[in-house]
Amino acid sequence: MYMNTIIKKIELPDGRKGLLEAAEILRKGGLVAFPTETVYGLGADGLREEAARKIYEAKGRPSDNPLIIHIADRRDLADLAAEIPEKAAALAKKFWPGPLTMIFKKSDHVPKGTTGGLDTVAVRMPSHPLALALLKVSGIYIAAPSANISGRPSPTCAEHVREDLDGKIDMILDGGEVEIGIESTIVDVTERIPVILRPGFITKEMLEKEIGEVALDPAVLLEKPKKEIVPKAPGMKYRHYAPKADLCIVEGKTERVIAYILENTKKKMEQGYKVGILAAEETKERYVQGIVKTIGSRKDDHSILQRLYGALREFDSIGVDYIYSESFSEVEHGYAVMNRLLKAAGYQRERV
Ligand code: TXA
Ligand code: MG
Repeated sequence: MYMNTIIKKIELPDGRKGLLEAAEILRKGGLVAFPTETVYGLGADGLREEAARKIYEAKGRPSDNPLIIHIADRRDLADLAAEIPEKAAALAKKFWPGPLTMIFKKSDHVPKGTTGGLDTVAVRMPSHPLALALLKVSGIYIAAPSANISGRPSPTCAEHVREDLDGKIDMILDGGEVEIGIESTIVDVTERIPVILRPGFITKEMLEKEIGEVALDPAVLLEKPKKEIVPKAPGMKYRHYAPKADLCIVEGKTERVIAYILENTKKKMEQGYKVGILAAEETKERYVQGIVKTIGSRKDDHSILQRLYGALREFDSIGVDYIYSESFSEVEHGYAVMNRLLKAAGYQRERV
């Protein structure tokens, strides 16, 4: 079914009218995409099963993959979580509003249609002013996964959302480019030692500074997971975003990485293939062939996070056959960047 998707640019505090319209759609059980500080989310009423079902349908997402419920106030957590462990309260105090999602035992009124059938619930209080305003004006808890078609990179601007979901949802609130660019860090706080289920802007070190030891789910290590590993975040088990091109991460000393990429780009181009190169600002000019995209300077990991998904989308739309990417493991949020990049590459990497 095709619907007319309303797209509205909103600048607070003047965008009140668009916000009211979006809130009304959500209250009636419709779908509204909105910006958060991490990526754009596709929102629906978190306590209504049929609203969640619409999200799955629009995204083409398996319905056993649970949604994150967004709240506008730390106190709302008591409504959704059956218990709030002390460490979780400490993390909420420090990092909310912000790019941290925590997994709790769910309270009775969170429907299983939102949690993918699980007894736990993922909760996050976003910091984006538009997201917070939408939560407050609508007066509901908003369940929202990233606003992309399943299997595509998360959207970092309204145009990405339009590419994927135009005609499938009621409204897109355009709040410009997001600030962070990759999805929130997910921490399971139902365990005595909390476990990171998805790395993000809030690093293990930042968490440990607040609450002591934190573990990493084996599924988020930067090595190809062995078959037996079942990730605790159901979403991490699906083949995530995979570019149409064959993506390979090249690691090693800078000069050797450049030489490897130059040589292989030349070879592939001679065979008639289109080749993309993902490079840092510092080295981009060394690549004399291929379609070079830079996602920022190694000294500015902010721009690397922010531009990663956009660059991958651009390669997809150009239709390159091969992508060679430099490694970004040494930048400040390198762990989260490499987690996304290695997944996109199907863990294909070349150490030179
Ligand atoms: O930054 C973000 O987190 C964005 C913005 C919109 O808030 N949202 C987002 O949602 O990335 P999504 O659905 O694309 O990713 C949520 C991840 C999935 O991998 C899902 O399996 C996991 O969170 N998750 C949700 N509820 C869970 C639960 N109860 N237990 C374990 N994992 C859960
Ligand atoms: Mg997602």
